Amino acid sequence: MTITSYFAKDLFQGQTIFITGGSSGINLGIARNFAAVGANLGIVGRSQAKLAAAADELRALGAQVSTHSADVRDYAALETAMARCREALGPIQTLICGAAGNFPCAAEQISPNGFKAVIDIDLLGTFHACRAAFAQLRETRGNILFISAGQAFMPYAFQAHVGAAKAGIDQMMQNLALEWGQFGIRCNSIAPGPIEGTEGVRRLVPEGGADRLKKMIPLGRFGTPDDIGQLSVFLASPLASYMTGARVVADGGQNLPGSGVWTQLIMAEMQ
Ligand code: NAP
Ligand code: COA
Repeated sequence: MTITSYFAKDLFQGQTIFITGGSSGINLGIARNFAAVGANLGIVGRSQAKLAAAADELRALGAQVSTHSADVRDYAALETAMARCREALGPIQTLICGAAGNFPCAAEQISPNGFKAVIDIDLLGTFHACRAAFAQLRETRGNILFISAGQAFMPYAFQAHVGAAKAGIDQMMQNLALEWGQFGIRCNSIAPGPIEGTEGVRRLVPEGGADRLKKMIPLGRFGTPDDIGQLSVFLASPLASYMTGARVVADGGQNLPGSGVWTQLIMAEMQ
């Protein structure tokens, strides 16, 4: 696969980008776009097979890659992964917190453990990654990108657990921007809209509902992993050196008319 990047090819030459959930979907798209501008990648996920396949793809783009099978709910495992990544590639310049779990479920049916699973992976896992990366980021005066979602600021039916987790992530992003600015660490979040070909879309877009949803998106299409990858490179780069504490919505305008059409479609499917 080739990447069309509009940035200088050496923008991140030799720098280490560490991505939780970097083995598939949007996060792998982000990794590919950093590889295209010279970065090396540390990627974390639970499945060793997915990590190996992603690493092959990133190495073919010229990156050095360090893979770490770990669950973001396990703080010690993440600390170990980051220490090993540092030994292999050098200190982390940009941390991307992208690991997440999602399934649609009515609020009155979701079990406490189901709610907790999403909070633990998305919100606690994101805190774990930031906390474990702090020393390396302070050393590099690096930055953090948080992968949020429209559910953080717009209510979507059957997404109470995800909305709580992603809203928490965005608030934590601003807290860390406030506290860690003194160390030169910038913190920003990206809220992608529906991204074509991803697990999120497979789980959340009701069967046969894609065309109707696209019609309500002002830009008339779902996004691509490269749409989010290019934005990530920009936000992590010196081009955005005065940006911190910002949530950047990259959804083709999807959230502007609200979540009504999606909510109608998912309610019809789930009930
Ligand atoms: P995805 O391919 O399933 O990506 C999730 C990644 O996180 C996978 O690599 C997964 O690998 C990893 N992961 C999950 N649980 C983990 C855990 N406990 N510990 C470590 N790694 C874990 O899904 P995606 O749709 O591309 O979503 C990527 C991100 O974009 C998520 O933060 C999601 O909320 C956000 N987002 C997606 C969309 C969309 O349209 N897809 C829209 C808005 C926001 P393993 O399963 O191997 O662990
Ligand atoms: N509907 C309702 N509850 C569900 C569910 C669903 N579709 N899927 C899982 N749950 C519940 C389980 O029943 C369990 O609760 P219980 O113990 O009360 O029965 C709880 O969630 C945890 O499930 P488990 O399978 O043990 O969790 P896990 O830690 O192995 O996996 C998930 C986490 C559930 C989020 C899983 O879907 C996952 O790994 N997702 C990662 C990929 C992903 O979601 N990508 C899209 C990102 S947008």
